[in-house]
Amino acid sequence: MAVNLKGKSFLTLLDFTTAEIDYLINLSLDLKAKKRAGIIGDTLLGKNIALIFEKPSTRTRCAFTVGCLDEGGHPEYLGKNDIHLGKIESIEDTARVLGRYFDGIQFRGFSQETAEKLAKYSGVPVWNGLTDEYHPTQILADLMTIKEQFGYLKGINFVYVGDGRNNMGNSLMIGCAKMGLNCTIIAPKSLWPEESLVDTCIAMLGDDQELILTEDVTAVKDADVIYTDVWVSMGEEDQAEARMNLLKPYQVNEKMMTRTGKTETIFMHCLPAVKGAEVTEEVFEKHATVVFDEAENRMHTIKAVMVATAGR
Ligand code: CP
Ligand code: NVA
Repeated sequence: MAVNLKGKSFLTLLDFTTAEIDYLINLSLDLKAKKRAGIIGDTLLGKNIALIFEKPSTRTRCAFTVGCLDEGGHPEYLGKNDIHLGKIESIEDTARVLGRYFDGIQFRGFSQETAEKLAKYSGVPVWNGLTDEYHPTQILADLMTIKEQFGYLKGINFVYVGDGRNNMGNSLMIGCAKMGLNCTIIAPKSLWPEESLVDTCIAMLGDDQELILTEDVTAVKDADVIYTDVWVSMGEEDQAEARMNLLKPYQVNEKMMTRTGKTETIFMHCLPAVKGAEVTEEVFEKHATVVFDEAENRMHTIKAVMVATAGR
């Protein structure tokens, strides 16, 4: 069946089928090739895109801005102090106003519920550029990068190490489950993803596909990909010291990379990275090409999401 995502919001990968995610990855690869060839798009011509940011961003903001301009659209940055969202004006009212002006809304902030309300009341596609719970556009870029590196996704042994219950741990677990990757989350038990989400992901697994949660760092054995994220996410700065101490044994270093038993294992990171904490400078620099391909792919995948859901 042909995939049609017109008008659909992108709030969590849970709302998307394997075929739809596959379509978005392939569209991203296409758009990347077009940009490399200097071909300018016009699928967002005449479209206005609102970019709401409650938290800071380098990649996501720039990816939405450049991706929108590349396709002929107009991006409008709305920082947390620029609009009334959730202060004197309710999210519902802001959404109803923005929906009359804009053809799509990006939201980066704290609560997933805010993203959902924006989608419900604006009547235009809303794209989740990161909430405390999920970071779905990042996962599209990650899957695209893995596909570029290995040529396929199904059967890849994907290992995520560190803070297993943050937006990245949650979203990567969903992305792996949907796309046929084996996923191992290595984290202290107190930082495992919520049981209900784990159960949802287990229910999606295909035959021979695994989802493992463990505290044991030797579980990196046979990994094709080792992925980590910051130990202290935006908005959790007050927990920094305790988190750093708890996660010390989970640093991605040369010893951990060697433990995979594979020389071709790649290292990935959504960035920004705190070198010397979740990853050593040595591992990061050795794998920098892939990490920055992954960062570049944010732009192609975010463009694909806008084109597929709000494009002409
Ligand atoms: N990976 C990511 O979302 O980066 P930014 O915080 O810079 O947008
Ligand atoms: N878990 C991180 C991801 C940053 C892209 C955070 O939320 O800060």
